[in-house]
Amino acid sequence: MRRAAIAALVEDERVHRDLYLSEPLFALEQKHFFANTWNYVGHTSQVPNAGDYVTIDLAGRPLVMVRHDDGSVRVLYNRCAHKGTPLVTEKSGNTGRFFRCPYHAWTYRLDGTLRAVPLAAGYDGTGFDPVDAAQGGMQAPGGVAVHRDFVFAKINPGGPDFASYFGAALASIDNLVDRSPLGRLRIEGGCLRTLIRCNWKTYLENINDTVHPLSTHESATSAAGTVWQGRAAADAPKPMAIEQILPFGSGHDFFDRMGGRILPNGHSVLGTAFSIHSGYAALPEYEEALRAAHGVERAKEILQHSPQNAICYPSLALKGSPQTIRVIRPLAADRTVIEAWSFRVEGAPDLLFERSVTYNRLAFSPMSVVAHDDVHLFQGIQKGLRAEGNEWISLHRGFSAGELATPSRDVNGTNEMLMRNQFRAWLKFMTLDMVD
Ligand code: FES
Ligand SMILES: [Fe+2]
Repeated sequence: MRRAAIAALVEDERVHRDLYLSEPLFALEQKHFFANTWNYVGHTSQVPNAGDYVTIDLAGRPLVMVRHDDGSVRVLYNRCAHKGTPLVTEKSGNTGRFFRCPYHAWTYRLDGTLRAVPLAAGYDGTGFDPVDAAQGGMQAPGGVAVHRDFVFAKINPGGPDFASYFGAALASIDNLVDRSPLGRLRIEGGCLRTLIRCNWKTYLENINDTVHPLSTHESATSAAGTVWQGRAAADAPKPMAIEQILPFGSGHDFFDRMGGRILPNGHSVLGTAFSIHSGYAALPEYEEALRAAHGVERAKEILQHSPQNAICYPSLALKGSPQTIRVIRPLAADRTVIEAWSFRVEGAPDLLFERSVTYNRLAFSPMSVVAHDDVHLFQGIQKGLRAEGNEWISLHRGFSAGELATPSRDVNGTNEMLMRNQFRAWLKFMTLDMVD
């Protein structure tokens, strides 16, 4: 498929259904799009000790994130230089002082350089030198970067460097990390994974969709409202679950006024003015600790900015409060795994961690009272798009031709510009390294 044919699928205010349905196009995404973008690998707190590792699949390529004995965190291909055997196969673990291939026992240091080969003399004079890092070492992806303990990788060496790719979007990570008076987060509580039979873009668009909660999540919010109503005075402190679910039922006007911001390369912030998370009970002692750590102005800025979702396109969605991330791991055109992770905020009260895990269970787990509404619809969309008579997905809400001139922009919260912005970036990085 050529560049022009792919470009024809993304118009200014609508996109073709092939972007969601086509397996050949998904194969091209794996080859080009996900190789040209910076994708989230993991958090350094997942590998606290030397030899700790986490394995992930990034666009069909096996990667391992490992803590080196010099304290740094490395990302390498999980592939033995001999015949391709993955060196570790668990989701996470500790490999000891080195990797040892389970096949013919080549061993590698934690930076991927070859340590030893059994019967090494057998390679003398063969033209293959296992000690040569390019020939015998574990290879690294084209780019690896760590920002405030968030680890990212890019498969291809070309294209934008980490800082210019994310730009102002990194402030969303800073907002999350700076909620710790110590400037440190720790992944805790395991990962909630959901396999959804939908295209990954459907999920990512919905993270910026503010028109749906009122209708899609009506049953959850009205049930929560019924349970809570009349139980206590209207201004009484709400139990955590009630506090977190009720705002999903806010009116369209609330979501419209919360505001959104697009950033270059598909990134965005939804809820620039306020969000469904802004009304959580204040914690005066914690806020005082933040002021002591960051100064009055910065503490105020951190606490007042509580977006609904920030997206580091295309693999990471963050919430500053509660402290959670979602990671989008596409498997096929019609299969996507969503991971929801909780953070413990170092130096902050336990209540913040409780908010994080409670929110993930309520809103993102497979047994959630919220996510199944969305998942049901996403899986339906994957079927519905096969209907004939309309091959296009409308992203027209709030469109104006003038928006194409400005890669950063503030808009109302229900504007579908945040989604259009994703598809403009999709086309850019899908075709970045195509020759014609
Ligand atoms: S495949 Fe790893 S040592 Fe042979
Ligand atoms: Fe939803």
